Amino acid sequence: MQLDETIRTRRSVRSYQARELPPPLVDEILDLARHAPSSMDGQPWCFVVLRDPETKRRLADLKNAYCPPQKRVYPADFLAEAPVIVAVCVHKSRSHGRELENGILATGFLLLAAHARGLAGVYLSAYQKEDPRLAEQIARLLRLGPDVQPVTVVPLGFPREAPPPKLLRPLETMIHHESFDLGLL
Ligand SMILES: Cc1cc2nc3c(=O)[nH]c(=O)nc-3n(C[C@H](O)[C@H](O)[C@H](O)COP(=O)(O)O)c2cc1C
Repeated sequence: MQLDETIRTRRSVRSYQARELPPPLVDEILDLARHAPSSMDGQPWCFVVLRDPETKRRLADLKNAYCPPQKRVYPADFLAEAPVIVAVCVHKSRSHGRELENGILATGFLLLAAHARGLAGVYLSAYQKEDPRLAEQIARLLRLGPDVQPVTVVPLGFPREAPPPKLLRPLETMIHHESFDLGLL
């Protein structure tokens, strides 16, 4: 798939076929994710690939337990049904103070690489600014060690649904030349 088409057609998918993901396919995706930019080119990533049903269920339970009240209508149970979950983590010692940015960018690359191969997933945060317990519990579950911080958890699978193209806010309301033009809001 060409890059433009990959970017334009990627959607979040929360329902997956039971079909297993071959390990080399997951490795291809992670190989591309690590081409993301990173602060001072620290390349701080570590990707924890989860296939064990018990670990996936516990991760879903943690996401639900620490879900902010306004998002409880969107439970994370689908995590337990994904054939693979990738926990995108970073070494703090290689992050130059930019742990979240480094992890988030690699997650974006990962999602595009997955989509280009016919897979789908969705971005889920592994931390909450206002409550450190989610990240702490995920770190404990995955035995991450003191230098490693989880940033996102991304379920991956062959999609069971094909979401329609989404309605985008008009480009002209997003672009400003030289300074911010309130008149276009
Ligand atoms: C920072 C961030 C947090 C998100 N958190 C969740 C989440 O907790 N649960 C979920 O199902 N999707 C989550 N998403 C996915 C968004 O809901 C999704 O990207 C958005 O609705 C746009 O749809 P699209 O990805 O299909 O373009 C998150 C995405 C981002 C970037």
